This record gives sequence, C-alpha cells and structure tokens, in this order.
Amino acid sequence: MKKAVLTIHPDKKLSHIAPELYGQFSEHLGRCIYDGVFVGESSDIPNTNGMRNDIVDALRNLNLPVLRWPGGCFADEYHWKDGIGPKENRRKIINSNWGGFVEDNSFGTHEFMELCRQIDCEPYIAINLGSGTIQEAADWVEYMTAKDTSSLAELRKENGQEEPWKVKYIGIGNENWGCGGSMSADYYANEYKRYQQFCKPYSGNALYKIACGPSADDYCWTRELMSRINHFHANGISLHYYTIPTGSFEKKGNAINFTEKEYYETIFQTLRMEEIINGHLRVMDKFDPEHKIDLVVDEWGTWYDEEPGADSGVLYQQNTMRDAIVAALNLNIFNKHSDRIAMANIAQVVNVLQAMILTDGAQIIKTPTYEVFNMYKEHQNATLVKSSIDALSSGCDGVTIPALSESVSISEADSPSGNGSKKITITVANASLADDTEIELCLPETTQFIGEATISLLHDEVHSYNTFGQPEKVKAAERKETWNGNKQIITLPACSICKVHCTVCITSK
Ligand code: AHR
Repeated sequence: MKKAVLTIHPDKKLSHIAPELYGQFSEHLGRCIYDGVFVGESSDIPNTNGMRNDIVDALRNLNLPVLRWPGGCFADEYHWKDGIGPKENRRKIINSNWGGFVEDNSFGTHEFMELCRQIDCEPYIAINLGSGTIQEAADWVEYMTAKDTSSLAELRKENGQEEPWKVKYIGIGNENWGCGGSMSADYYANEYKRYQQFCKPYSGNALYKIACGPSADDYCWTRELMSRINHFHANGISLHYYTIPTGSFEKKGNAINFTEKEYYETIFQTLRMEEIINGHLRVMDKFDPEHKIDLVVDEWGTWYDEEPGADSGVLYQQNTMRDAIVAALNLNIFNKHSDRIAMANIAQVVNVLQAMILTDGAQIIKTPTYEVFNMYKEHQNATLVKSSIDALSSGCDGVTIPALSESVSISEADSPSGNGSKKITITVANASLADDTEIELCLPETTQFIGEATISLLHDEVHSYNTFGQPEKVKAAERKETWNGNKQIITLPACSICKVHCTVCITSK
C-alpha cells in the first residue's frame, strides 16, 4: 500500500467555485436532443411537454447549473426562426456537420427554454455568427428577452410564451477558427465586436457575452483576440479542449477496448488541461491585468473513435471508469482555477461523447461520469481552500503521470451545530492502475474534523462500464463514519475517486 499526505488549510480561502463549472452542453448531434432529452409529447416514454422525465430528474439531481445549446458546430448553421411557431410549418434542414441527417426543428427555442425550466438551470445560447447575420442575432435576443410590445415580443407571446425569458449567457460564434467559418482571429474579433454590439440587454436582462476563444494550446488565437477586444465587448472567452487518447483526431482510440498504455496516455492528455489553462491565462493577463474577462471552458471531455459500424457523425460512445477518472481530474483542475474560470461545459449531456446519460428506447443508464458529477456537486457555490497532495507517480511503457489529484472547498454557510463550524468537501482521484493508496488528511492543529463524515467511493476495474443489462455496475458507494481530531486516513484503491463531506471546526487561531 502506498502512502500520501493531503494537507488542507480551511482558513486559507482562495476563490468562489461558480456552480457553472459543473455545466453541460447539448447539441443537435446524434441522439442528444431527439431520442435523447426530447421524445415529444406523444411518446410512450413518460415525459412532460416532450422532455423525458427520467432524464430531467437525473439532471436535477446533479444541481445542473447551466446548459449550452444548440451547438457546437451546429450553432453556426442554426437559424432560430426555423425552430419557432407551429411544428408542422418548421423548416426541415440538413445537419451538414453531423451525419447529414434531416433536422425538422421540432426542438427549438421554446422547447429548450422549457427543458431549462424543468431542470431549473440557466440557458446558455450559442448564437450563429458563421452563417447568420447580425440582424438575426439581434432579433433572437429581442425575441427571447424583450418585455414590451415589439413585433418580436408579440411573436413570442403568440407562440405561447407571455413573459420574456431570462437569458444570461450568450456565446457569439463557435469554433470560428474551424467549423464556424475558418476565420482568422483578427477577422473573427472584428465580426464579434459588431455582433455583440447589437445584442441588447432588453427589460433589464443583463447579458454575459462569450467570444469564441482558442482550441487547445492555440495561444496565438488568444493573443490576437485579446488584443482586439476588451471587457466592454466580452465577459468571457471560450476554450475547447478535448481528451483524445492519442492526441490526434485522425485515430482517437476505442472507448472500451484500450491498453494500459492507452489509459495512461489518456490521463496524460487530460492533465494537459492544467498547462493549457495556465498558458491562456498568462496571455489574457497581458491584455487584461485586472482580470475582467473570464475563461469559459465550454467544451471538454473524452472523444474516442465512433463505434465500429455506427453511423458517422453521431458521436455515441460508451463511458468507463477511465472516463470517470478523466472527469474527476478535470473538475479538480477547474475548482483550482475557479478564480479565473467562470464556466465549464462537458460535452455532451446525453448520448454524445462523454455523456452523463445513455438511452436505449425507454431505458436510460447513468454513466460513471454521471457518478463523478454527483459526487462533486457539493463544491458548487463553495469556497476553494488551499490544499496540496503528494502526487506520487504512476504509468507504464514510458508514460508517467502524477497519480493523485485533489481539490477542497468549504461551504460558507455554518453547519447546523452553529458553533462556527463549516462543511468541507474533499475530492481525491487516484489515477494509478497499480497502487492502492492510503491518504492522510491533515488539518492545521487549530482545526478539527467533528462529527459525521460521509465518504463516497467510486471504484471499479478501469474498463468497467454500465450497460442496459447491468445499469448500476459502476456506482459510488457511500458510508458514514464519526470523525474527530485533525488527522484522518482514507484509502483509495487503484483507479478510484473519493469524496468526503464532513464538518470542520476552527478551535482557535
Ligand atoms: O462536441 C462536438 C463538437 O466538437 C462540437 O460541435 C464542436 O464545437 C467541437 O468541435
């Protein structure tokens, strides 16, 4: 058994963890929307206004804070007027990015807002800059948010929504260096500035505007963009970074059949997120030293080759313990950068890439990644505190990774005992496939763990995944212990993730 120490300083508060770091992404791609979250009112699958009840319940359970829509690459060919009004009149288009399937637009703005209402999350609207017009973008914002009697507000009312919706987050363009128009950064920046100017804060609806930022480690894009925009134009810039085991889109690797070496390469690629975030923040700092523009990681997650024989452009993939480790590592990284990252959206919520939920007819399964989001949800809205861990190291065939990763937060609300104690959430991942590890949690001498600790452990063989026949094969187990004193030991088996939720009390300074 290996040993490590995790040192925690509950009195050293670092930054607020925005709930939006636990956001999700939904795109008109494969079976994410149709045959995913949306089955239509006439479906035999239990639904409310067409939204699957089981999926809505599962996402509510995660306290899902924000959902991005309608894309992705789809966003830059989406014309919002195609998706409003009587369904039989809605325009049918070809989803040219994703398989060339016919999109009947039966899920549009009203349906998406209804989904967000049911989940109780913020909508994040990705506006078409690539093939749209400024007028179209401006009209969409007015249609959604204007209160008065403008023709667009009246049209929204005729379509069944009397009150304007609250829409905080808008992204203007998606991957405009690629599928969103193959633009250069300076051309995009000028376009972005024009578009954002005409997206107005109707009826007191303050907009948080997100410009299309870089892919992975493209620091040149960030430099060009940041040199041309300021915080009057944008509240945040996006970053897309996917974990591809081989590091190459040409041949990404299989979702369930992978070697030990491929596993460690996957973890290596995932941990690059830290270096990539730091690299972009350094560039942003030069142009925005007061940190008025946030980083928004609005696409991340694993991306494998499509299943053999599957339709291309559907991006359905299984989700194993490897994905759970990837999710845990990324979420720890986001927590630790919560001073500068305002939002992160895993791709994608249902049936696409690193999904929370997979569906097959009336059945759903929650993936190992869902389990991680469920374990980590107490970090939302808490305060990151200083912590450090002996990372140890692991790997094989020349690939070496730090095995342990952690983040720790305290909740600002006093615990019910009312003695100044705080709730603490500690999340640790053990990415080693070889070493079970005993981790000593150490508080300063003046601070004690007190009372009941809830310990959740997600652990299985790295290739394990849930199936429709065995939907709960990979599931976190929870136990309770009574903890006292300033040191406690937890044991993390190889390939596991642990969450501790308990109370700490600072006895004296
Ligand atoms: O998530 C799938 C695709 O990945 C998105 O549509 C695009 O933005 C990215 O390239």
